[in-house]
Amino acid sequence: MSQTDVNDGVRIMTARDAMLSRLRRRKPATALERDFYVSPEDFQIDLEMIWYRDWLFVGHDCEVLNPGNYLTVQIGEYPVIVVRDRDGGLRAFHNSCRHRGSRICSAERGTAARLVCPYHQWTYALDGRLLAARDMGENFDKSLYGLKPVHCTSVGGYIWVCVAKVAPDFEPVRKQLEPYFLPHKLHDTKIAFESTIVENANWKLVWENNRECYHCAGNHPELIRTFPEDPTITGVDGGSGNERIAAKWAYWESIGLPSKFKISANGQYRTTRFPLLEGKTSYTMDGQAAVSRPLADTVTEPDIGTLLLFHFPTTWNHVLADHAITFRMLPLTPTTTQLTTKWLVHKDAVEGVDYDLKRLTEVWLATNDADRRVCQENQIGVNSPVYEPAPYSTIHEDGVAQFVDWYCTHLESRLTEAST
Ligand code: FES
Ligand SMILES: [Fe+2]
Repeated sequence: MSQTDVNDGVRIMTARDAMLSRLRRRKPATALERDFYVSPEDFQIDLEMIWYRDWLFVGHDCEVLNPGNYLTVQIGEYPVIVVRDRDGGLRAFHNSCRHRGSRICSAERGTAARLVCPYHQWTYALDGRLLAARDMGENFDKSLYGLKPVHCTSVGGYIWVCVAKVAPDFEPVRKQLEPYFLPHKLHDTKIAFESTIVENANWKLVWENNRECYHCAGNHPELIRTFPEDPTITGVDGGSGNERIAAKWAYWESIGLPSKFKISANGQYRTTRFPLLEGKTSYTMDGQAAVSRPLADTVTEPDIGTLLLFHFPTTWNHVLADHAITFRMLPLTPTTTQLTTKWLVHKDAVEGVDYDLKRLTEVWLATNDADRRVCQENQIGVNSPVYEPAPYSTIHEDGVAQFVDWYCTHLESRLTEAST
């Protein structure tokens, strides 16, 4: 081991110890200290302890419907490719050639009968086997140089990957999501529009902003035409005691749409269905449907509120009667985060006939842009050495406190595991 390796090891241990002590002295229901949002060492720990260990939502089944369809995603330092194989199964691989490491597929999405590295044309089958490697000599054993697999699964039309050697058990997630999502047949939809933006903020600030609507009145005039600012929706008290919500849940459940608030034991994911404002059924400027064709042929009730899913650390979602909006967050640097938003509609819905793209997308494009702005300003303010953590609003920010609690508990247990 070189002196540099030793120094690196000491530096990493010191950063982890420092983070553990900050986690342990954290005051409840209070924002995090500055380092969590600005320090490159903390960012690296977030990647190693969370992003490289947990299941991450990366895209939809409908994006890779046929054999040979693929999508690519960059998870921290790991480029990953998800492909539909010849038998219709989903597979994911590290998108790094086994020859000299070149990224194999650079397009966000594409179709290929075989995966051919553009550098020296090593050629892989859709199941990852190395099929051809020109002029490597007689003793070269192709069977030793297949693509390295990445854990991959899908549920309810959502594809998930995990780059860890051993992935956490996905079955509890599947069990919770399936009853809520299967009725909406998201695997059988199409993407009407997608947008990718970069927010100049740490990924946790983006989540914290998402987990409250305390900022909605001042920043989201388009969204609050339809989305209730009621803190029970972003919060985690499960809508308890709200008669309107209880009546809606009873009705929706009677028509086969699971709706009650459900959060996983560790707080990492939540499913629930909430009503929009009275008389509103979709995220449009007038609150009426943006798509004339229901999202799923089997769900024809026009007012099903919004089915909400969050799963830390990558995704939050809304499924309405006429369309669905899905969000995927990926960390780029300590202070930049990529957010991809997709609008899903019935696979046979026709633009210009069944929906108008501007009407479909304008509310959330404006909302995302306002969120981009507030998160950036939040980051600039947190960068200041005078920033200090303050308490969250007990009325509006229990969702933020819940996210931060999940983050701290999750990280502390992983760091403690790693140090034993
Ligand atoms: S690096 Fe891929 S073929 Fe050489
Ligand atoms: Fe917002």
